[in-house]
Amino acid sequence: MNEELNKVSEYRPKIWAIGGGKGGAGKSVVSTIMAFWLARMGNRTILVDVDLGGANLHTLLGIKSPARTLNDFITRKFESLEDICIETEEKNLRLISGASDVLSLANPHFSQKIKLITHLSRLDADYVVLDLGAGTSFNVLDFFLVAHKKIVVLTPEPTSIQNAYIFVRNAVYRKLSRLSSKNPSLQALVKIAMDPKNVLKIRTIKELIQMIEESDENNIVELLKKEIGDIHLSVITNMVRKDKEENAGRIVQIVAEKYLTISSSDMGSISYDKHVQTKISDMFPIIKLDQSSHAFGNVYDITGKLTRG
Ligand SMILES: Nc1ncnc2c1ncn2[C@@H]1O[C@H](COP(=O)(O)OP(=O)(O)O)[C@@H](O)[C@H]1O
Ligand SMILES: [Mg+2]
Repeated sequence: MNEELNKVSEYRPKIWAIGGGKGGAGKSVVSTIMAFWLARMGNRTILVDVDLGGANLHTLLGIKSPARTLNDFITRKFESLEDICIETEEKNLRLISGASDVLSLANPHFSQKIKLITHLSRLDADYVVLDLGAGTSFNVLDFFLVAHKKIVVLTPEPTSIQNAYIFVRNAVYRKLSRLSSKNPSLQALVKIAMDPKNVLKIRTIKELIQMIEESDENNIVELLKKEIGDIHLSVITNMVRKDKEENAGRIVQIVAEKYLTISSSDMGSISYDKHVQTKISDMFPIIKLDQSSHAFGNVYDITGKLTRG
């Protein structure tokens, strides 16, 4: 599997994944506005609804009932992802809808996931933006890990900060677990360490690495350190209402560095915009909103930074 995933970076397009734990932080809103701006900047962009359990991106884009969805690809009705891309009203922006009434899709088979990742990496586009579902299942984490930009969206609420941290933590453990798949005793150790209340009292990735260094498996430790070191997060704080809330993302950055040995960049914050909220409740297409609003301006700046970084 690692080889399959590693191949991805050799291909265009650039893949950006937006994750961050539980629902409600604004992942779908942020990924939609981000994809909109990427398209406006002249990039051929495909927004993909990877929220396989609760897809809603088509609604944000003003598409009532998508003609084709990921379901049609997974059930092999269409062989190519290109065939299920839907044009949007925005030039340069296409959507792959995740809308699905098939429950099993929320938990795709391992081989289906690999196939999907491989095909996503071959899409004919400059940017592929993945809106990840809520939660930290392996399905979500694997899409996050494969992306060139690993974007974490959180709000200033303590639970959201905590969820974002747990999301990143699980992503790191998922990577370690995959890397140790051919090494049963190491994999067992990673599995134990994943439980926050484990008997070995391993509380952080740092402590886990130390324990591996002291064990018989220490020949792999440099590889593990390098692979974890390659994970770089881009952190965004959404729905900021007061200046001091802008720094919520910093907390995730600090703990990710301290406990998970993960590097990150603060991409900035997005204002809480009442207009965004009310229009979404009215099912008004988000890309038709007033683009001079604060929230749109903030996402514009963030998108620019991400394209340059
Ligand atoms: N910047 C913002 N300003 C105001 N409301 C927002 C903003 N971002 C998101 N929201 C509100 O939060 C709700 C949940 O956002 P959504 O993107 O669906 O979250 P997620 O995908 O993380 O579950 C939206 O329906 C909208 O009402
Ligand atoms: Mg969502």
